[in-house]
Amino acid sequence: MEKPIDSREFLKQTDAKTPVGVAEKTGQSSPEHSECPTGKTSPEQKGGHVVAAFQLPDLSYAFDALEPYIDTMTMQIHHGKHHAGYVANLNKALEGHADWAARSIGEVCATVSKLPEAIRATVRNNGGGHYNHSLFWTLMAPTGNGGGGEPTGELADAIRNDLGGFAVFKTEFTKAALGRFGSGWAWLCLGGDKKLYICSTPNQDNPMMTGIVECPGVPILGLDVWEHAYYLKYQNRRPDYIDAWWNVVNWPAVEDRFVKARR
Ligand SMILES: [Fe+2]
Repeated sequence: MEKPIDSREFLKQTDAKTPVGVAEKTGQSSPEHSECPTGKTSPEQKGGHVVAAFQLPDLSYAFDALEPYIDTMTMQIHHGKHHAGYVANLNKALEGHADWAARSIGEVCATVSKLPEAIRATVRNNGGGHYNHSLFWTLMAPTGNGGGGEPTGELADAIRNDLGGFAVFKTEFTKAALGRFGSGWAWLCLGGDKKLYICSTPNQDNPMMTGIVECPGVPILGLDVWEHAYYLKYQNRRPDYIDAWWNVVNWPAVEDRFVKARR
């Protein structure tokens, strides 16, 4: 069993309130790092209520940039409809909850078990959806232009030491992704003991959600295995989608995240 989540410490280290990674309007990446690169402005006063201002982050690549592995229409709908829907529902759920609206999405996820019961399930689903997708977009890149290949450096060393090497990791991660019944995510995480491990979570849960999930930790790499992520191109063939996805994994971004999480 992994040690308790270290995500609060990770949030502190990485300045979770700074919206970085995918800038809100320009689509340019910031050199800074965040626990989850997502758009966020300050909560606004509207009609006497505080309105959360989580925003749909732009992609740092074109919708067709991950072809032929992830098709253009899937990217457009996934980002523009599904992810946008999570953001809208999250902001709506947090209306009037000023203390929660002021937090970063990573902080919301890490403390989701403390939310008022009336909004807990909605924020868990939609806040998780916002966090997970914001992260997912940044951990992919066009093949040959950041995407594909194998991890190098410190991440490769850790995968070898903690998981038995890249081939074993790939097999076990794929098993986690295939074994997730229904909708959810497969994860490569860093535990409180600073070791890597693989797990999966249902729906839009993620390993940041301490007190909620069985595998708390800091997510380093995540794979969306909801059907909305692959059905248009792969229909029911989740194994084919996973095989293809390895071609667009942005290993430099994953390693950067790993190095910062392990500090
Ligand atoms: Fe998704």
